[in-house]
Amino acid sequence: MPKTYGLVLAAGKGTRMKTEMPKCAYPILKKPMIEYIVEKLEKTKIEETVVVVGHRKEVLMDILKDRVHYAEQTEQLGTGHAALSAAPILEDKEGVTFILPGDMPLMEIKLTDKILKAHEEMGNDLTVVSMVFDNPKSYGRIVRDQYGSIAAIVEDKDCTGEQKKIQEVNSGVYVVNNKALFKVLRTIKKNERKGEYYLTDIVALMRHDYKIGSFVVRDAYQMMGVNDLYSVSIAERYLRDEINRNHMLNGVEMVSPNTITIGHNVIIEPGVTIYPNTTITGDSVIREHAIIGPNTEIHNGRIDEHAEIKHSLVYDSIVGAYTSVGPFAHLRNHAEIGAHNRIGNFVEVKKSSTGTNTKAAHLSYIGDAEVGSNVNFGCGSITVNYDGVNKHKTKIGDDVFIGCNVNMVAPLTIENEVFIAAGSTVTTDVPKGSLSIARNHQINKADYYHNLIKPKPKDDK
Ligand code: UD1
Ligand code: CA
Repeated sequence: MPKTYGLVLAAGKGTRMKTEMPKCAYPILKKPMIEYIVEKLEKTKIEETVVVVGHRKEVLMDILKDRVHYAEQTEQLGTGHAALSAAPILEDKEGVTFILPGDMPLMEIKLTDKILKAHEEMGNDLTVVSMVFDNPKSYGRIVRDQYGSIAAIVEDKDCTGEQKKIQEVNSGVYVVNNKALFKVLRTIKKNERKGEYYLTDIVALMRHDYKIGSFVVRDAYQMMGVNDLYSVSIAERYLRDEINRNHMLNGVEMVSPNTITIGHNVIIEPGVTIYPNTTITGDSVIREHAIIGPNTEIHNGRIDEHAEIKHSLVYDSIVGAYTSVGPFAHLRNHAEIGAHNRIGNFVEVKKSSTGTNTKAAHLSYIGDAEVGSNVNFGCGSITVNYDGVNKHKTKIGDDVFIGCNVNMVAPLTIENEVFIAAGSTVTTDVPKGSLSIARNHQINKADYYHNLIKPKPKDDK
């Protein structure tokens, strides 16, 4: 078995995207396109992967870090020129190189393996991966000779009227003998119309001395190139349908699945129900019998079994088993809610943890707090964690009852079995077992209304 190297071309600007971000970093279901590709290569038998970077290379390098090797293409002179930029790393290697564009996020791992196997079994020096599109516009056309062999790839804009009618297109994926590749890359001539070196020219350059074969992909959508924001939306739709279908076949119930978006790496256990307008992305995990949605967004969240999240946002946070969140709650920045909690209407929890059976049913802010079990936050009670300069911590023990509209001014420790009277502004620690009242005594002035506001008319008898 020859060694296989991955070569991903991702140096282009992505002019057609009309966005600031370099195209291959652009997210599809909140995950950068390039990550789909590198993740796939990591799962195949590829020895090492070289990513060609150039335009705003720091953005891509920040995403991929040291998962790959980098080759730099300082000037974007075309795909042939981009591939040649990897010469310092790959040129002397024996084996085959698997070339992929960095804008093709949908290709599945199974297909990747099949392509590599086919190349080897056919004994090709170059395997061109193609597909058939009803609307082949903007893709390079596969031109075959009278015997059906691939003779050339012609770019859309360079096609004759006849060639434009060809529906078999170049996917931009090739498997090629590495030594032969770098030999021919050096002989590619500049395309005069575009002023670029086309990688596609390797076909015509290799056809007489090497064995060229093709692999035609049936599921053509997997090979779509993402060139503009419209194709981003199409890629997202395909991916969403595919992901949702797999979850539903695995026992996840989805109500109106066309309004539900689940990211590529999300794990959902069977028995989960998801209601409309829900998005779950990042490295989220949803455990069995949880109920999610409607109108809910979860990113990098873990929702434990039987928890219920309605009309709410959960970012980088954990929700314990049997806990209910929402409607209209916001958990963020490492909120870790324990089991059997209730986090209700308009409650925000940031960087805080709670034990079991704790409740904040209405209008609370819990920030930078460590909260125990059986704690009840009354309506409107909040941790005052920010003094305008620094953030401070609040520690609340077990079995604590916090009345309505209580301000807990941090740093503050409230020990176990404490009761805080409604309306208190608590600024010093509260010892175990006590009742804390921190508000002015109430004064009731008798006859105020009639004496001051509405004096009685004088009796002038
Ligand atoms: C390319 C192919 C076309 C194929 C299509 C499939 C060429 C000349 N054309 O066209 O036959 O049908 O992909 O999607 O190869 N890149 C660089 N450096 C450059 C230019 C591009 O690294 O100087 C990278 C881009 O970042 C991109 C990939 O190469 O990830 C493909 O470039 P793109 O401009 O998208 O090529 P297409 O016009 O789509
Ligand atoms: Ca493209």
